[in-house]
Amino acid sequence: MDFSLSEEQQMILQTAREFAAREIAPKAAELDKSSRWPVEIVNQLAELGFLGMAIPEAYGGAGLDALCYAIAMEEISAACASCGVIMSVNNSLFCDPLYKFGTDDQKKNILTPVASGKKLGCFGLTEPMSGSDAQTMVTSGTKVSDGWVINGAKNWITNGPHADYILVFAVTERAEVPGKGPRVKHTAFVIPRGTPGYTQNARDHKLGIHAAHSCTVFFENCHVPDSAVVGQVGDGFKVAMATLDGGRIGIASQALGIGRAALDTSLGYSKERKSFGVPISQHQAIQFKLADMAVELEAARLLTWRAASMKDKGVRHTLESAEAKLFASEMATRVAHRAIQIYGGYGYSTEFPVERHYRDARITEIYEGTSEIQRIVIAANLLK
Ligand code: CAA
Repeated sequence: MDFSLSEEQQMILQTAREFAAREIAPKAAELDKSSRWPVEIVNQLAELGFLGMAIPEAYGGAGLDALCYAIAMEEISAACASCGVIMSVNNSLFCDPLYKFGTDDQKKNILTPVASGKKLGCFGLTEPMSGSDAQTMVTSGTKVSDGWVINGAKNWITNGPHADYILVFAVTERAEVPGKGPRVKHTAFVIPRGTPGYTQNARDHKLGIHAAHSCTVFFENCHVPDSAVVGQVGDGFKVAMATLDGGRIGIASQALGIGRAALDTSLGYSKERKSFGVPISQHQAIQFKLADMAVELEAARLLTWRAASMKDKGVRHTLESAEAKLFASEMATRVAHRAIQIYGGYGYSTEFPVERHYRDARITEIYEGTSEIQRIVIAANLLK
């Protein structure tokens, strides 16, 4: 097994690390405190090709692999987890399914500007009463002679307040199958913002990732043409699940970034802060925490990079993505928790970054499938 990175992957790591340190890290605390959408950083990410990393250049992307994407996501998220998830939603939840399931026209006219960062995408699966049990969505798509009419609401839509397009999932068939009970089929649609009947409310207020705006999106008799269907009519749930197989690699990488930032700052602080006459790094109580943080981080990275490598080989990676997302997200919370302990009272202060890492880590255990959903996916794979 070869754990070394290719020249291209090392180059992406270096580019992302330098960019994040120079352009993002100095602004991260301000972005968190002000909840400001980082428009200039989103534009810079576009210039770097980081908004459509694994999409071929012919469709506006950077033509890189999923491992490059995971590496860059970790670097950007280590500087600012909000910037990380903005990037992740555009790459994993919009560009990836458009590339995999979209028509030639959708790839040319919608994917190309979104992958190059000229436009922004978002993903509408979750609803007010349907999160983990995604199949119970009630947003409907009704066939009419010249297209479809969409009705319903989608919430927690990251990038929603700023996105130019949404990839949205709706129930398009509900039938009673004799002897089998109800059958519900879903379809994916790509809808431009500005389409009559597509509106949104003010952005959500959250515990963390303050600069990554989310909102509820509403569809009221929103009429879209047949050309808005992504993939086959009736296959929308599979489009959503396959998309999340990739998305969970992005969130695992975001969690790696948050955990690494918490470890790095703890290492620095423990060498400077003194107690009982010595830097606290000389106390075993601190050393053991640092050692556990480092080992968990490395283990999470191996799981994440394995899932990304499988995606690059075109192998089904549902299980591996769920394992990576579960372990990396819970790792990030544990590592940030220990970082606060190492900082002591200062760790609880908003003057230092570790409380931000702790708040930002928490969402990685929830979005793109809670830890409980990852365990369900893992157990289902073990038991089949
Ligand atoms: N790839 C392709 N097809 C898949 C699949 C996958 N990974 N997983 C399931 N399917 C298919 C199944 O084969 C099945 O097909 P058939 O009907 O032909 O047999 C169909 O989909 C239904 O599968 P299940 O019976 O397993 O479905 P389920 O209702 O039991 O639900 C679940 C499965 C894993 C719990 C799923 O509902 C789930 O992942 N829930 C969590 C939802 C989630 O992650 N939401 C995140 C929202 S996005 C977000 O958070 C973005 C953000 O803010 C950043």
